[in-house]
This record gives sequence, structure tokens and C-alpha cells, in this order.
Amino acid sequence: MKISLPNDSKLLSPEFTYGVATASFQIEGGVDERLPCIWDTFCRVKGKIKDNSNGDIACDHYNRWQQDIDLIETLGVDAYRLSISWPRVLKMDGSINQKGVDFYKRILDRLNDKQIKPFVTLYHWDLPQHHENRGGWLNRETAFEYADYADKISRALGDRVFSYATLNEPYCSAYLGYEAGIHAPGLASKKYGKRAAHHLLLGHGLAMKALQANSPNTQNGIVLNFTPCYPSTSASADIQAAKMADAHFNQWYIKPLFDAEYPEIIETIPKDERPEIFAGDMEIIAAPLDFMGVNFYTRQVYQADTENQFVSLPPSEPVTDIGWEIFPQAFVDLMSDLNQRYDLPPIYITENGAAMADDYQNGEVIDYDRTRYVQDHLTALDKIINLGIDVKGYFYWSLMDNFEWAEGYAKRFGIVYVDYENQKRVLKHSALAYKDLISNRSTVS
Ligand code: NOJ
Repeated sequence: MKISLPNDSKLLSPEFTYGVATASFQIEGGVDERLPCIWDTFCRVKGKIKDNSNGDIACDHYNRWQQDIDLIETLGVDAYRLSISWPRVLKMDGSINQKGVDFYKRILDRLNDKQIKPFVTLYHWDLPQHHENRGGWLNRETAFEYADYADKISRALGDRVFSYATLNEPYCSAYLGYEAGIHAPGLASKKYGKRAAHHLLLGHGLAMKALQANSPNTQNGIVLNFTPCYPSTSASADIQAAKMADAHFNQWYIKPLFDAEYPEIIETIPKDERPEIFAGDMEIIAAPLDFMGVNFYTRQVYQADTENQFVSLPPSEPVTDIGWEIFPQAFVDLMSDLNQRYDLPPIYITENGAAMADDYQNGEVIDYDRTRYVQDHLTALDKIINLGIDVKGYFYWSLMDNFEWAEGYAKRFGIVYVDYENQKRVLKHSALAYKDLISNRSTVS
């Protein structure tokens, strides 16, 4: 199956960036060569990870990074989005761990040699455990320690990086990690979620200052995830429910960046669930961005519950293997809504992809369902660009199958199959379709 787009699509222009994405904890392994992080600890709590797995070995990328970059080169992509493991590059006392930094320098050098642009995320959820022991993101100090890490690592990496993202999906770190308790560190209280979110966003703003000073020529920004919220019916109570969910889960993380304030619902939530905001915090958070990264996978439908709050409905078919509804129109709706609400900087789609029940047989994986998912979302992206929204690139999540957080290794998002028995990598049919799209692009324009 081929991925096809209208002949005049901007997605076929050689200026449009195509990439693949990964994150340190999900692929690296090499656990003895770094400090423990909150996910190491969380994985050891029984019942937290579906298959009781952990990140000790993962895809063994720590030892196989050269072959993995060769694989990325084979795909013909323009860019590779990776993350730096904070517990690998700093020691307990906050000083540089040279061995860890050298690991990333070698990766970045090799990418640059091959003219693959490195998009580096500084925080993709692997908080060093010793910070969590002092309260983690519930402790305001962590924001400053994170900015110090961003300062040190951006100096150490010099001009090797094309783009820095401060945080990946602060909603997940804050809400899933501190309020719902289904991600590390596994705390569950309404009092925690928005407090953690505020410190993450403050850390982002402080880090932006360091990045703009140390690395003014890189594209510096942040990566947010959005799950558009739809009402279950046209009843005003359901519409209101969807709006409320949207304010909590989506707008809460973007509005401070552009408007220097939280959504209005902040006034209605109990005092002890509100973040403690110091004078000047919101201005720090609203630091100008060179770009915003958008991660899009699915949508959610809400209805009002008895207390006039909101409750989500189970997803409708079709769904991916992780149970997320496939609904590409939500991608268009989302981007046009964000574009109306905010004065957006250039956008990169930093993640989009699907977990599918891959069948590895006779040395191949025929994953038409994943190729179809990419096809449908690129078609949606074409519409988004035609609305006049400045989208500069698209990264498929993920380069290869990896540790899918609380889901363990059973959910496979890769366009490259990983056989965890022997760490063999096999290009799935979706990888071939993606490669084909990328290489044909230059011949079309
Ligand atoms: C969100 C995260 O950034 C990434 O780590 C995760 O694996 C994918 N989306 C899929 O859930």
C-alpha cells in the first residue's frame, strides 16, 4: 500500500520535514550507565506495568545506536526526534556526567554527518529519582533544577542540535503521573496534578531563557499533546462537559504559554487544587517560542454527569490496538481551533502514529492498518496546511517498537518491528510506504 497525497500538496514539497521519533527511557536500556529515574522505580511496583516489564534493556539502543541511525538513514527521513536522559547526563550533585554527554554527542554527530536534523527533547518523563525523593514536580525547586540541567546540557552539546523541545507532553507528566497515578511517580490526588503542571511549565519557561541564550540559532520550543474533546449530544450540558474537559486537559497547558494565564476554570476549582503561582511566574512561562510541537493521536467524547462535571465515553470503532479511536477529522478540528484561539508560532507535528496488532511472519510485517492511519492523518494534515496553518514537519511515532509506558512492550507503535528475543529490527510495510512517500516527494515538486 502506498501513501498518496494531492499532487499540489505542500506535504510533497522538499521543504517539508519528515521524521521519526523516539524517547530515551523507551528505547535506550543501558540502565547501569545512568542514575535511576522515576520510571525505574515505578516499573518495580507490582501491577503498574501491564506485562511487568521495565526499561532496563528496552531496545538496547544504548549499544545499538549506530545500527539504529543507519536504519533511520535507510528511511530517508530529514529529521530524527530523540530525547536526552537527564539521569544519564548529570550526576547526583548536578555536575555533568561526561560519559553520558559523550553518548549523545556521538549520536548527534552521526546524525549531522548524515544530514539528518536532530530534534532534541530535554524532558521525556525520566525524572532522576533523587529529585522525586525531594518532591519531584510537586516541589517548586525542581523547576529551577530542571532549568539548570537545560542550561548545562545545551552548553555541552554546542551547535549539534537543530531544535530543542523543553518538555514532552506536560499533561502526561502532571496529570497521569501526579493526579491519576497511572504513570510515574504514581501519585494520585486532585491536589497534585495542577501543582505539578505549574512547576513543569515554570521549568519550561526558565529553560527557554537558557536555551535562547546558549543556543539562539536552534528552534526552541515545547511539545504538547492534545486530545480534542467532543460532546456526546448537542444538549447544552454535554457541550459544557466537553468544554470543561478541554479546559482541564488541553487548554490548561497551552493557554499559559500564549496568554500568560490559566483557563477561567481556575476560579471554579477548589483552592487546595490550584497551583501556587508566584508573581512573575506567568510571564516566565509565556516566553516566546520558535515553534510548538503538537502530538495528536485520537479524540475523546464527553457527557455531563450528575454533578455537572464531565465523564468520558468509551471510544467508538475503529480503534487502534491500544484502544484509541481513529478519527482524523479531530486533527483538522483541533488545529483550526488552536489557530483561532492563539497566535501560533510555526508548528511541527512531533508525534502521530498507531499501535497495531502486528503479525511478524516469514520475516515481514504487513501492517496496512498502520499505513492507512498515516495516510488518513497526512490527508488531514494537508487540509490543515490548506487552512493557512504553518506546519513545517511531521514525525511518525515511533521509529521502532519500544517500551510503551504502563502498557509495557505489548503495544507496538513502530514502523520498524523489534524482536525482543534477539533485538532484531525489521522494516514493516508501513516503513516502506513512509520511505517511498519521502523519496518520491522531491521528484514531484
Ligand atoms: C506519547 C508519548 O510522548 C510517547 O512517549 C508515547 O509512547 C506515545 N505518545 C504513544 O503513547
